[in-house]
Amino acid sequence: MEFIPLSKPNITDKDLQQVESVIRSGMLVQGKYVTELEKTFEQYNNLIHASALSNGTVTLHLALKILGIKQGDEVIVPAFSYVATANVVEHVGATPVFVDIDLNTFNIDVGRIENAITSKTKAIIPVHEFGLSCDIDAINIIAKKYKLFIIEDAACALGASYKGQHVGTFGDLASFSFHPRKAITSGEGGVLLTKDAAYDRKIKQLRNHGIEVMDGKMDFIEFGYNYRMTDFQAAMVLSQMDRLQKGILHKQKLSKLYQQKLDQNKLILPVVPSYANHTWQTYHVIVRGGINRDTLIEKLKQHKIGTNYGAQCIPHVTAYQMKYKLDCKKLFPNAFTAYMQGLALPMYDLLNEQQIDYISKTVNKLIE
Ligand SMILES: Cc1ncc(COP(=O)(O)O)c(C=O)c1O
Repeated sequence: MEFIPLSKPNITDKDLQQVESVIRSGMLVQGKYVTELEKTFEQYNNLIHASALSNGTVTLHLALKILGIKQGDEVIVPAFSYVATANVVEHVGATPVFVDIDLNTFNIDVGRIENAITSKTKAIIPVHEFGLSCDIDAINIIAKKYKLFIIEDAACALGASYKGQHVGTFGDLASFSFHPRKAITSGEGGVLLTKDAAYDRKIKQLRNHGIEVMDGKMDFIEFGYNYRMTDFQAAMVLSQMDRLQKGILHKQKLSKLYQQKLDQNKLILPVVPSYANHTWQTYHVIVRGGINRDTLIEKLKQHKIGTNYGAQCIPHVTAYQMKYKLDCKKLFPNAFTAYMQGLALPMYDLLNEQQIDYISKTVNKLIE
């Protein structure tokens, strides 16, 4: 039996042909595919402005820059996410203020946000973790009350929705990633969405060194970056967009099988609130007390099953411990549990029902 990885991108001959044709054309950057990708995202999200960038981390970084977030400001970040969500706050010199998560959804615990708000708070970055929308309405109420910006970190959640509306269309800005573990991938890549035309202009300027073209003349009016996506990456994403929905439906079916087959006496399985359409970028469970998660990962590897922890309790990783020295077990008990006892099981488009059966039986056996 072949090893079942945690994740595997679904790259078809059509994707490869499209990439090859762009590379052979010699137009590797700033050609028509980046523009086409942006148009596709605008249509997909009901004409919200889209900019293709080099990855999901720089999309978050530009979002903070666009909103003028800087040293002295605070930004609310869930304590459990990929480190990138908080790193970008550090990159602009602001302070990430961590809020614990809900252990059923792995998303920020909305009930704890207000306690973390101070006069320095400027924004909230809700993360739609593992492809599940946060409780947007509740977050909006808080953001309005305290006049805070919302930057949706939808890196894992392309195609996910909240009350029937796509995530990424609620916040002031929203970020997506095309890292190989996401629903569709270009290796590296990201998209930044906004409803605001002025923000959009600025994003397109800043991603290209602060460029401005006036009367055919090129000038640089800001200290911008090179955050551009290549045209062959855009072509690769575009080629996969038409099967995004098929992949989501397949993963929804597989997640139901996990839900039926995994031993719920030993594992806490994820819960999907009625407001959300979960896209299952990751199927993440909590291993109940008494079972060593890391040993389980090793044993599963011996059974040819790739698993891993799902995300970090960010304030617990070394860089954040050195700077903030927070007692995570006490302050963020759910994020800490998710980091220490969380287990991401294989989930991807090419996975099949027999494999889910084998994985579930093996997990159940190893934890009995
Ligand atoms: C929640 C979250 N935010 C941000 C990122 C960063 O995206 P990228 O890897 O494309 O820089 C990731 C991960 O890949 C992520 O999972």
